[in-house]
Amino acid sequence: MSKAQATSAAPAPSHNQLDTKAQAWSALFEEPMSDLVKRYTSSVFFDKRLWQADIAGSLAHAEMLAAQAVISAEDHASIQRGMAQITQEIESGAFEWKLDLEDVHLNIEARLTQLVGDAGKRLHTGRSRNDQVATDVRLWLRGEIDLIGDLLKELQVSLVDVAEQNVDVILPGFTHLQVAQPVSFGHHMLAYVEMFKRDAERMADVRRRTNVLPLGSAALAGTTYPLDRERVAKTLGMVDANGSPVVCQNSLDAVSDRDFAIEFTAAASLCMVHVSRLSEELIIWMSQNFGFIKIADRFTTGSSIMPQKKNPDVPELARGKTGRVVGHLMGLITLMKGQPLAYNKDNQEDKEPLFDTVDTLKDTLRIFAEMVGGQLNPATGHKEGGITVNPQAMENAVKRGYATATDLADYLVKKGLPFRDAHETVAHAVKAATTHACDLSELPLAVLQGFHPQIDKDVYEVLSLRGSLNARSTLGGTAPAQVRIQLARHRARLG
Ligand code: ARG
Repeated sequence: MSKAQATSAAPAPSHNQLDTKAQAWSALFEEPMSDLVKRYTSSVFFDKRLWQADIAGSLAHAEMLAAQAVISAEDHASIQRGMAQITQEIESGAFEWKLDLEDVHLNIEARLTQLVGDAGKRLHTGRSRNDQVATDVRLWLRGEIDLIGDLLKELQVSLVDVAEQNVDVILPGFTHLQVAQPVSFGHHMLAYVEMFKRDAERMADVRRRTNVLPLGSAALAGTTYPLDRERVAKTLGMVDANGSPVVCQNSLDAVSDRDFAIEFTAAASLCMVHVSRLSEELIIWMSQNFGFIKIADRFTTGSSIMPQKKNPDVPELARGKTGRVVGHLMGLITLMKGQPLAYNKDNQEDKEPLFDTVDTLKDTLRIFAEMVGGQLNPATGHKEGGITVNPQAMENAVKRGYATATDLADYLVKKGLPFRDAHETVAHAVKAATTHACDLSELPLAVLQGFHPQIDKDVYEVLSLRGSLNARSTLGGTAPAQVRIQLARHRARLG
């Protein structure tokens, strides 16, 4: 197609400059985008979920423009009025999102101009979509991090509830998935509380670096208008612990880096990894070979062919979705790696992985809080339907695994044997117990004394599961007295 043809084929200039994408930029363009390119480059059908942040950012910007006398008070009032109507249109579903207008920013701005005329066109003074989108994503993510913080707390409370009910329940502790030593089931639950506590701390830390204002950086270099960036930051709640505004200090960095989103996805990945480890344990524990726990039926599914089955679909899916979130981290970090300063369109690709990470993490945390701790029954004021434990099955498994062998070795050490010799002696005792198909504590004293003459009848206290548990009373150990100290610490912290 010749230039002349292309020009003559272009649509007539529209009265609303943002009506079609070819017109969104300027008269400089000689041909409109093809439908394929429009679809390829547009982001409105996913970034429209940023609309609240976009409007909040625009209102804060307009308020500041008016305060700085860059726009008039009348224009500011018109912008406020227009945005109120747009908010209502979006909330009611009446707002018409247009692919032609590429993204959430141009859609809202075009509608504003349609509603309030020139005031709408003045909103973009001293601003670019580059600092606008960076601001929107940060504002939106900040809100989501807060919700995730609440959910992480709920999950921790569920785990603490289960821990509290099961401090004295004895579970085989594993290393290499081989029975190692008896541990309190409550202690085991609190291990996950520690993990999710650190996840919450990581989220809070990411929030601090997310809650920083890019607006005022304009396209990349700052702007010629006398903007008051700190005023905008204050309006948007982008403040530090002392209430002082926090703004990005370099315009090039402000519009281009998405490290806060990458960090968030990394923190989310770690959190999902913790969920995945818990899932794996729930799946193992509820298999018939273990039979340690049950989860409520509503988190399981049957099999279409094997009538006896109850499959732990929820934990399995959570384990699977962990791969998906870790994949988003890889996607985002790779997205960033080859980009020269400053903004590049590559960054539009930050949204879908970020949105999906947030959705997946939130759903997973919500469902796990309920699956582990149950649901509040308003009639009784108690939570019901969390995981149920089978202490007898756990105890049988501990016994089959000679989990008190270390205790016997420690006993001999206390009688003066070097640890290595004690270790070897106990190995013989375990071999004998295996032959007799019994636990160490079931071997007669005479048999035990055959392994070492210093073994006395006080050994049976040491070989008991409870004795073994109570003996591990170092700080952070599994002795129920220690577990209760930790429980109190978590309760105080979680309120
Ligand atoms: N939709 C774009 C994004 O998500 C907005 C910024 C576009 N800026 C630009 N100069 N093309 O990144």
